[in-house]
Amino acid sequence: RLLIIDFGSQVTQLIARRLRELNVYCEIHPFNKVDDAFLRAFDPKAVIFSGGPASVFSEGAPMPPASVFDMGVPILGICYGQQVMMHCLGGKVERGHGTAEFGRAYVTPAGDGLPLLDGWFADGREQVWMSHGDHVSAIAPGFQVYGTSPNAPFAITADPARRFFAVQFHPEVHHTPKGAKLYENFVRLAGFHGDWTMGAYREEAIRKIREQVGDQKVICGLSGGVDSSVAAVLIHEAIGDQLTCVFVDHGLLRLGEAEQVVTMFRDHYNMPLIHADESDLFLNALEGVSDPEVKRKTIGRLFIEVFEKHAKSVGGATFLAQGTLYPDVIESVSFSGGPSVTIKSHHNVGGLPEKMGMKLVEPLRELFKDEVRALGRELGLPQSFIGRHPFPGPGLAIRCPGEITRDKLEILRRADAVYIDQIRKHGLYDEIWQAFAALLPMRTVGVMGDGRTYDYALALRAVTSVDGMTADYYPFTHDFLGETATRIINEVQGVNRVFYDCTSKPPGTIELE
Ligand code: XMP
Repeated sequence: RLLIIDFGSQVTQLIARRLRELNVYCEIHPFNKVDDAFLRAFDPKAVIFSGGPASVFSEGAPMPPASVFDMGVPILGICYGQQVMMHCLGGKVERGHGTAEFGRAYVTPAGDGLPLLDGWFADGREQVWMSHGDHVSAIAPGFQVYGTSPNAPFAITADPARRFFAVQFHPEVHHTPKGAKLYENFVRLAGFHGDWTMGAYREEAIRKIREQVGDQKVICGLSGGVDSSVAAVLIHEAIGDQLTCVFVDHGLLRLGEAEQVVTMFRDHYNMPLIHADESDLFLNALEGVSDPEVKRKTIGRLFIEVFEKHAKSVGGATFLAQGTLYPDVIESVSFSGGPSVTIKSHHNVGGLPEKMGMKLVEPLRELFKDEVRALGRELGLPQSFIGRHPFPGPGLAIRCPGEITRDKLEILRRADAVYIDQIRKHGLYDEIWQAFAALLPMRTVGVMGDGRTYDYALALRAVTSVDGMTADYYPFTHDFLGETATRIINEVQGVNRVFYDCTSKPPGTIELE
């Protein structure tokens, strides 16, 4: 496996993505966790130093342990990682002073025969993405220059004998079009065969789950979302009926959702499943509540209570399974250290394991979202589950701004089902990251037949996104929007007006609350 030492770059995760695309298994660890003992235990086959915002001149500048250079493994330093390498190995780094480079630059070759650059420089130069203030001013002994750019005379340097490579630019970003090729060359010369597949991951994960759990019992909070579904199926494959799933139905699910989840897991996969129908509990507690944060916190608190109650009924479960993904666990290197603002209190089962004295089983901790989908496919989960849009823990509560009532929820459920049906019929579901309807807390006047109506207004939302952190609204055609509005108003009693939400994130958020 390959070790990425994170010096705090914004794009470190992209390095991992590029390597996974090459079927190479890698892990990101923050520089301050990587010491001699860590390196020995990890035993990497190759190491990458990420970029980072620091300067090697600053006090306490992030550095790798010196022993990393004595392991005999190939090392690739990127941007700050290059400067670190030069600094540690006897080269020189200088402060910016007019030579800072941000954005597109062109590198031209300055030496031949470097295997890292196979397939590069076909047109005599290569576009790369730079983002640096300091720069290397003298390379370390043993190094040679293989590429230069106008502001970075040492854009590509290497000590081929020791297999140390250092580049000033960022090969992991899309603006370095042949960046993937550079990573491919690096892992090949490091001896990786690109054989890390989902089939292999599945086998390995099953072995690890069995080893961790032994003959103990495990409970898993199943939401029907992709992550918890894949985690549950995988764990069930590993330990069978030692696993019990608890599906908390808070009465804020979409049309037919509870039945689908129960059918899939109880009937199809034959898993022990507790269907905790607690809609009265949740909806009664939410009566009269209109503040978004109070709603979220109420739901979060009840969810934990209900889960705990049912977990007890399983009797002696010592493990709690969660569908935690890799982006949730990477410890980001924060240099600002300042408190960040809470935009929304996210609902999850946080705090539960400590409270209940349980240990965690998290078989997806090493995977990105699309890898979880691939694993789900590998495990035979149907596409209708794997390709599902994300659905928030607090469910329809945050798609019904203001006070929630059972009547409003019923209208929303039916309108949402028509909207999603429209999207599927037009073949757009997989192009959209997330789509849903929201019932606005207002009524408007309309006319249907010869009569006056005074009904709810509905907002339709559809966004494209990569990770939910930023998003853009989906550009439906006017025909699609017109047809959908007509269908909803005709088919769903209680709605007489439909709006389309054209807000991106930021400044909006994806959900309305
Ligand atoms: P926002 O509304 O913050 O949503 O732009 C970003 C993504 O997160 C989902 N979301 C949640 N997911 N628990 C979840 O598991 C929550 O409390 C929660 N709130 C928002 C939202 O659906 C979108 O995909």
